[in-house]
Amino acid sequence: MASVLERLTAELGRSGIVLSEPGEVAAYTSDWTKKFNGEAPCVLRPHDTEEVAMCVRASAKLGLKLVPQGGNTGLVGASVPRGGEVVLSLSRLNKIEEFDAASATVQVGAGVVLEALHEDLAARGHVFPVDLGARGSCQIGGMIATNAGGIKVLRYGHMREQVLGLEVVLADGAVMSSLNKLKKNNTGLDLKHLFVGSEGMLGIITRAVLQARPAPQALQTALLALDTRDRLPDFLILLRDKLRDLSSLEMITRDSIALYKEVEPEARLPFDRPYPACVIVEEETGAGEHERDSFLERLSGILESGLAVDAVVAEGEAQAQGIWRLRDGVTEAISRAGLTHKFDVTVPPAAMPGFLAEMERFGEEAGELCTLLFGHLGDGNIHVNMMQKPGLSDEAFYAKGPALAERVYGHVAELNGSISAEHGIGIAKRAYLHHSRSAEEIEVMRGMKQLLDPDGILNPGVIFESN
Ligand code: FAD
Ligand code: LAC
Ligand code: ZN
Repeated sequence: MASVLERLTAELGRSGIVLSEPGEVAAYTSDWTKKFNGEAPCVLRPHDTEEVAMCVRASAKLGLKLVPQGGNTGLVGASVPRGGEVVLSLSRLNKIEEFDAASATVQVGAGVVLEALHEDLAARGHVFPVDLGARGSCQIGGMIATNAGGIKVLRYGHMREQVLGLEVVLADGAVMSSLNKLKKNNTGLDLKHLFVGSEGMLGIITRAVLQARPAPQALQTALLALDTRDRLPDFLILLRDKLRDLSSLEMITRDSIALYKEVEPEARLPFDRPYPACVIVEEETGAGEHERDSFLERLSGILESGLAVDAVVAEGEAQAQGIWRLRDGVTEAISRAGLTHKFDVTVPPAAMPGFLAEMERFGEEAGELCTLLFGHLGDGNIHVNMMQKPGLSDEAFYAKGPALAERVYGHVAELNGSISAEHGIGIAKRAYLHHSRSAEEIEVMRGMKQLLDPDGILNPGVIFESN
């Protein structure tokens, strides 16, 4: 009897879609966190929507399950196989198809890498206003499927706010084209929103129409040092008043910066001494000296308040990039330094100081973990990383996970926060979904899955256990 692989290859009938050489398949079966991996009989790499639909139909016919995969930078274990599923890579759908100058919209294939879209739009005097550290690898389809956030949510929102239209291959292989370009189109249920943040379990995104924006005339970037985290709520109130056109407001705490320096000894740190927290502010302004002077004056006002005690202001783009390298470098450094229990949460800004202290206490009490805190301060979104200290075995590190997660998410729920600010639920957080969603909400989600994918072909086990 023919193997699954032989039957799938026979069904698809074209060379170049099925990748089955074990060494090559392995590149698709481990995730970025190094915590999630599994076996896949093969990887399917279609070139266009029609081939995606063929792959879905053929897999369904053979009773195979599919894990859609973009850039494989997701952080909740949902982009790699768990139980022998076939990986469906969207990487070849990587064309930036059309820029419509009149509406400032851009139609792209799901496999377009974020950085490529940034570069393409920059050449047209425009920007795509979602940006994140994984920009060199993450793909538009994956970003839509996770409703990615990043460093400009404060001003522009998540992926959801940028998506005007979608093309989706459904679980039965039908192509649902909803490539709307209109800003206003109030004609029944807005179906695209079902797929934004659906983590690959309702359909396969193959194309999107996205809203671009005119590039800002100037960006003013500065790094502020705080000598206490206790006054963060007052600091936020002041920033909102003084820097009204903020596009980014990011925080990195002392231990995260120390780890970055440890992993990147060549890196130059901006201040001579460590501070409890550093905050990046970026404001979009008009061009010219007057605008610059106004920014500097408002920054002086912030320093005079005593809520920030030191500042480095970027003179030009290279220095701004230097400041941003520190922020991106922290995420990279954490992944290079060891295994991490990652908690991507939102808490109300007023609760922030107490929350940060509690996280450090939880890490300390769990033992042999180093707690690193950073994130999107402007959105109340903190990335809590409890990292394996040298000497703690992988086994002992993993054993601490469930109790720690219950403790962290239980506390987040008490504060009326969210257990997933931007990374999604995936496999990593599905046992804790009840902390942020009611039983009724989860039941409706299950109903949507049943309706759109009754045979459970697409990304089974993601967000909730399969029935
Ligand atoms: P993948 O990892 O390949 O997939 C993610 C999920 O989407 C999976 O469930 C997968 O099945 C599904 N999927 C992928 N493509 C499709 C498709 N075409 N159709 C249907 N489902 C699909 N996230 C943030 O929100 N903000 C950040 O600031 C941020 N920073 C990051 C920094 C680093 C260094 C890294 C490694 C990750 C970061 N992330 C951040 C995580 C973030 O989720 C991803 O970077 C990105 O959104 C995922 O895109 P991807 O193409 O890599 O998707
Ligand atoms: C970041 C990822 C971890 O903000 O979301 O760096
Ligand atoms: Zn983030």
